[in-house]
Amino acid sequence: MIVAVDGPAAAGKGTLARRLAQALGLPYMDTGLLYRAVGRRVLDAGADPRDAAVALRAAETLRAEDLHRADLRGPIADMAASAVAAMPAVRAALLDFQRRFGRAQGAVMDGRDIGTVIFPDAEAKLFVTASAEVRATRRHRELQARGVAADYDQVLAEIRDRDAQDVNRPVAPLKPAPDAMLLDTSALDADAAFAAAMALLAAREQAGRA
Ligand code: DC
Repeated sequence: MIVAVDGPAAAGKGTLARRLAQALGLPYMDTGLLYRAVGRRVLDAGADPRDAAVALRAAETLRAEDLHRADLRGPIADMAASAVAAMPAVRAALLDFQRRFGRAQGAVMDGRDIGTVIFPDAEAKLFVTASAEVRATRRHRELQARGVAADYDQVLAEIRDRDAQDVNRPVAPLKPAPDAMLLDTSALDADAAFAAAMALLAAREQAGRA
């Protein structure tokens, strides 16, 4: 079984997908880490994240340990990931890896295009959203909890920039699959979002049996 959990940055996909994976006994993959690791390797090479040749080389030579680096988050890593994710060749280079992972034992995978491109036939698709303001508040709190000085307005501007870049790219843009179930977490905490997602999955399964 593949459960696709797509949606914009900081909508609560990661927390939700991890909990769903545990509840359903499925492996979990945060596919954003792939793009983050590629973006980071481009920065390591001293190149511009929009440099397609360097980004493709980084994607083709990605190693498992690159996904465990401690410097894959933060504003610079965020924008570098979003820039390399807009390149068709980079996306193509990472496609097989994602499909192999999912096909091995089933999976809950979170990202932007799991339900539209990677697994269009996924058994269940959730599109998780929240308003930009709520997402910025969550991200801001997260940064403060980690002791990182951050300005709310700047966090909100960065979220809006990244949304625009992810939504407007010509290849695999961020959008709900036609058969995705929408989950707006603006007014939900992590427990409520998990309960709502489980209810959606159960309703879908029941409808499939009817
Ligand atoms: O989910 P995240 O914030 O860690 O993702 C980082 C960037 O990678 C984000 O700007 C969009 C991109 N991404 C993507 O294009 N496709 C995915 N399946 C996952 C992430």
